[in-house]
Amino acid sequence: MTSQNTKRIIRKAVFPVAGLGTRFLPATKVMPKEMLPINDRPLIQHVVDEAREAGIEEFIFVTGRHKNMLEEHFDYQPELKSTLQKRGKDDMIAKVEYSEMPAGRLFTTRQPRPLGLGHAIWCAKKLVGDEPFAVLLPDVLINNQGKAGCLKQMVDIYNETGGNVIAVEDVPREETFKYGIVDVESEKGDCMTIKGLVEKPAPEDAPSTLSAIGRYILQPEVFEHLAAFEKGAGGEIQLTDAMAKLIGRQPFNATRFAGKSYDSGSRLGFIQANLAYATQDDEIGEAVKLLIQNMAKKLNKGEINVAAE
Ligand code: G1P
Repeated sequence: MTSQNTKRIIRKAVFPVAGLGTRFLPATKVMPKEMLPINDRPLIQHVVDEAREAGIEEFIFVTGRHKNMLEEHFDYQPELKSTLQKRGKDDMIAKVEYSEMPAGRLFTTRQPRPLGLGHAIWCAKKLVGDEPFAVLLPDVLINNQGKAGCLKQMVDIYNETGGNVIAVEDVPREETFKYGIVDVESEKGDCMTIKGLVEKPAPEDAPSTLSAIGRYILQPEVFEHLAAFEKGAGGEIQLTDAMAKLIGRQPFNATRFAGKSYDSGSRLGFIQANLAYATQDDEIGEAVKLLIQNMAKKLNKGEINVAAE
């Protein structure tokens, strides 16, 4: 294992986007789940925006079959822009331009078979190279009401601690089997030192109820462990298992980030996220709040058809 400066700047982020999105079928039969919209932009753009805000310069998508639309989304659309210009829709032009990725920033690699999150990250090894990097799972959105995003908060911690930093939040003990769970050594403010990590432990075996929520800053040595292709929970190559092997060799910290997470890969979480982002929208926010209040009144009265006017 190479020992080197573990505080180098984080320039690259990996987005594992090869997943099938079975929880949203038939909506995701043709359309990638990452293109489902939360308010005015697709899921993938929310996480790319979070990464951009944190200073990320290179965006690496680990894609699969039928995922070309993700690249298209970040491309230039000159015809669309000239049509909007002719119609005087400057606000829309600004939104479209914000979704454009400058030349030389977006890279893709493929995960040919669904062998697990660890395998997906390993597929980005060559593009990441020998430098620390971030990983963002696009299913999870973190809303901090316009304040510093989750990855930005993590980068600020990383600039102090170096090494590896993951974002965690409390989950009910009966749900630990769905997540990577951390074993905490010590805690100072919102930052804790980690002495262990377990993927999807049964509630009775979980070392805590703090779960990894899908935001990671990792040192490149993690690839050495991923390359072993060891199968873990669910018979998959797990990122958690490779991360666990870095503990004790490099700094490994976790943070309780500020903000609310939404599992937008589930139908309920998707609706919650849409409501949260829409209520904060400059254009429609107030109208959406009114709509929710009206619906709640109808529900309280026991009305079945709550479609709000
Ligand atoms: C993955 C990770 C898990 C993490 C979770 C967050 O699991 O393996 O450690 O807690 O994402 O959403 P998955 O949801 O892919 O089963």
